[in-house]
Amino acid sequence: MAPTRCLARKAGGIGRRLRPAATRPLSTSAVLRATASPDSEASSTDSAKKLKPLTQDQRDYLSSALRVNQAGELAATLIYSAQTPLIIRKHPHLRPLMGHMYDQEAVHFSIFNNLIHRHRVRPTALYPLWSVLASGLGWSTALMGREAAMACTEAVETEIGNHYNEQIRSILEMIAEWEAQGYDASGEIKQLVETLRRIRDEELEHLDHAVENDAKKAESHWLLTTAIRAGCRGAIWVSEKA
Ligand SMILES: [Fe+2]
Ligand SMILES: [Fe+2]
Repeated sequence: MAPTRCLARKAGGIGRRLRPAATRPLSTSAVLRATASPDSEASSTDSAKKLKPLTQDQRDYLSSALRVNQAGELAATLIYSAQTPLIIRKHPHLRPLMGHMYDQEAVHFSIFNNLIHRHRVRPTALYPLWSVLASGLGWSTALMGREAAMACTEAVETEIGNHYNEQIRSILEMIAEWEAQGYDASGEIKQLVETLRRIRDEELEHLDHAVENDAKKAESHWLLTTAIRAGCRGAIWVSEKA
């Protein structure tokens, strides 16, 4: 297993598909009652456990998580969109890999886009800023060369992997607390955890692909990845709030 896998596995069109934002917070009923999956409904019935309404803090946390995940996945699609033409012009053998990673990011973006619309979570107000910065990051690292572009992927996916892991941990703690009180978690909450796990695994596969393709041979690798990782952490922090 590649060293990067030692990290525990950790949240369509692009900007134009974003519809106008609504401001209502994540709906308690939508999350905990009405939208349980058939499997979870069966298990909930079998165990005869009731569902507990979300607290305001839990609603705020989940709204914030969906908001930042949607912004992050948009940024990922824009980074790969900007990098791909420059990279495959000089390294045509990377076309399938770049296409594969972009396609997975587009699916991630679509998933969170659908979730924020379903739960009426407003997108980050800094959407235009992140879009410009993500495209600029992809374009500038691709101009620096294949290794720098891969170092960008290494840095971004390391932070995103950590970010999804933290979300999974927090939601599992929430579920454990309900279960300790004799309640069950809704099918949708359980499904969200599985979605986050699957997306995290794909992000960490991107990280592995980057390392396999000489990310660590990039000029000034430490400086480049440290700066990008700090930028990612800052963008995550701000997007959770704004
Ligand atoms: Fe992604
Ligand atoms: Fe990714």
